Amino acid sequence: MITTLVFDAYGTLFDVTSAARRAAQASGDSLLASAWPRLAADWRRKQLEYTWLRTITGDYAPFDHVTAQSLDWALDAHNQTDPALRTSLLDLFHHLVPFPEVAEVLANLKASGYRLAILSNGTPAMLDAATQSAGLADAFDAILSVETVRHYKPSHHVYGMVETHLGTKPAQTLFVSSNGWDIAGAAHFGLWTAWVNRDSAPVDRLPQRPAHVIPDLSHLPRLLS
Ligand code: LAC
Repeated sequence: MITTLVFDAYGTLFDVTSAARRAAQASGDSLLASAWPRLAADWRRKQLEYTWLRTITGDYAPFDHVTAQSLDWALDAHNQTDPALRTSLLDLFHHLVPFPEVAEVLANLKASGYRLAILSNGTPAMLDAATQSAGLADAFDAILSVETVRHYKPSHHVYGMVETHLGTKPAQTLFVSSNGWDIAGAAHFGLWTAWVNRDSAPVDRLPQRPAHVIPDLSHLPRLLS
């Protein structure tokens, strides 16, 4: 029986593209107005690549550092040199917009008696800032950061934190993520999984497939009942 729901943060609860979107809106720059979706995608792609590479090479650095370095690559690739834009994007990444259904779904699940947690690459400070600015500070029983194990997802050290810190067996845990590779890592570890496929993307060709696929988090209560 599922007793605990563990959520990925970035891309699952919080819209990672909102930082570049809001920075473009605020700047009024016409180039950025059309380029921000690609800037956001390049930033995110590099951010994830750097986490994987740093885990493979044993070169852990905290996620705020990786986020800044991947942003520098993306700004360079898009010929953006304004230091104020860099500062603004990093600040906005710490205060990302949550997806519209998140607050209500979490409140419903909590009222139904589920334990709710975040398991994320983010540092504790980043996750505190994100949950507070999204009005979700009281929504979770626990916020688990990879900072404790100094390995990034999909390292088994990360998924192992659920049992170590929450005392919940993998078979009692539903891990919810919009990142297909994160779902594959969690499934490999033995967690139940729900892949949030907001963009109708193809399923990742990895050894483990998601146990469930949902278009957004509002489908979770029905899935669990
Ligand atoms: C996280 C990244 C993977 O929150 O989105 O862990």
